[in-house]
Amino acid sequence: VIGFFQPRLLAGRRIVMTAGPTFEAIDPVRGITNSSSGKMAYGLARACAQAGAEVILVSGPVALSVPEGCRRVNVKSALEMREAVFAALPGADVFIGVAAVADYRPATSAEHKIKKSGAELTITLTPNPDILADVAGLPNPPFCVGFAAESRNLDEYAEGKRKAKKLPLIVGNLVQDGLGGDDNEVVLFDAAGRHPLPKAPKPEVARAIVAHLAALLPKI
Ligand code: CTP
Ligand code: CA
Repeated sequence: VIGFFQPRLLAGRRIVMTAGPTFEAIDPVRGITNSSSGKMAYGLARACAQAGAEVILVSGPVALSVPEGCRRVNVKSALEMREAVFAALPGADVFIGVAAVADYRPATSAEHKIKKSGAELTITLTPNPDILADVAGLPNPPFCVGFAAESRNLDEYAEGKRKAKKLPLIVGNLVQDGLGGDDNEVVLFDAAGRHPLPKAPKPEVARAIVAHLAALLPKI
């Protein structure tokens, strides 16, 4: 429980956040997805709401309930997620991309269930838009935060993504540190450098990310 005297670090801020995996349809009953649970995003959304922010959670399919104080917009595919994000953006101070957006989708989705034929089947994939890079590239972008889950070379890859997508802040973690468990160990990268956070229970890590983010926002 956060102490009664904890300052409402994000009071008056409007935050749009993506969460969960995306689901890219192959046909009406099949698709490509990934194993993102949405726990990191939902935990961070909860921490943002507890800090006083208005939070819109644009979420792919997950088995989690909406954290108190957050509004959820349900989407499936990356294209739907991008649409919903841009619809929610007007008036937003902060955009946080936490979703594990599929990098590719089937080039075409069959209208009817594909029947097996016994022969090899090739599915052509086409790249999805990068939602975070598109938001950060807007003329007057909100304060954009990215996530980078890497299996190696964390500093190089996370900082590389921060620069490539023009983000003021990215949260990096090594997947073997965060996956599944109750604790998480992350490193924040911003214009001032790298800031490792101590390994801690996920809700505590979420609050530390909120505190760092709040300190970087333009004053209101
Ligand atoms: N992201 C996004 N839209 C995409 C792909 C990624 O908004 N189509 C966002 C993620 O939500 C995350 C950040 O970009 O905040 C980094 O995602 P990640 O998958 O780690 O990086 P990619 O740029 O897709 O590079 P790669 O998968 O090749 O490592
Ligand atoms: Ca990716």
